[in-house]
Amino acid sequence: MDSTNTKNKVIIVTSSLPSDNIILTGFMGCGKSYFSSRLAQALGFRLKDSDAMIEADAKLAIKDIFSQYGEAYFRRLESQAADKIKTLSSCVIATGGGFPIYYEDIKSLGTVIYMQIPFEEIVKRMTPQDIAKRPLFSDMKKAKELFDSREALYKERSHFHINASASIDEMINQTKDFLSQKA
Ligand code: S3P
Repeated sequence: MDSTNTKNKVIIVTSSLPSDNIILTGFMGCGKSYFSSRLAQALGFRLKDSDAMIEADAKLAIKDIFSQYGEAYFRRLESQAADKIKTLSSCVIATGGGFPIYYEDIKSLGTVIYMQIPFEEIVKRMTPQDIAKRPLFSDMKKAKELFDSREALYKERSHFHINASASIDEMINQTKDFLSQKA
C-alpha cells in the first residue's frame, strides 16, 4: 500500500492481492471438468466453469451460441466471464479450450494449470456426444490443426503444466506439490 499526502488530501493506492483461484486450461476433451471437480474437493475450494457461466447468462448451449451468433460473439461472452472470474476467490475454475488463447491476461486470474495431453488420446476419449457439444471439434483435421496451433500458447500462458494422461490422484498430488512450493 502506498499513501501520498498532496496538500490536505490523502490518496491511498491499494494494490490488489493475488487471487488464490486455480484456473485449469487445455484443449477440448483433455478432462478439465472432471479434474476440476476432484481438485476442488481435494482443496476445499468452490467449483466454477467458464462455459457453464456463459451458458447460464446467455440461456443457450455453447453449440447454439456458435450456430446462432458465431464464434466472435462467443469470445465476447468469454471475456465477460473473465471479468466475473476476477471477482472470485478460492475457486477451481475449468475454462473452455480457447479461453487462454483469447484472454491474454489469464495468469492474472489465478494460478493457471495447463493440462497437457496428446491429441490422439483426446480423440480416443471423446464420445459422439462430446463431439456434438463442441462446434470446433466437428472436423477432425481442423481440430488437429487447432490443437497444434495452440500448444505453445497454452504453455506460455500457464504457471505450470501437468500430464493429463496421468491418474487423477497423481494430478492432484502434482498440483498440491506445486502450490506448496509457491507458498
Ligand atoms: C472451445 C472449447 C469449448 C468451448 C467452445 C470453444 C475452444 O470448451 O468453450 O466450444 O475454442 O477450444 P471445452 O474445452 O470445455 O470443450
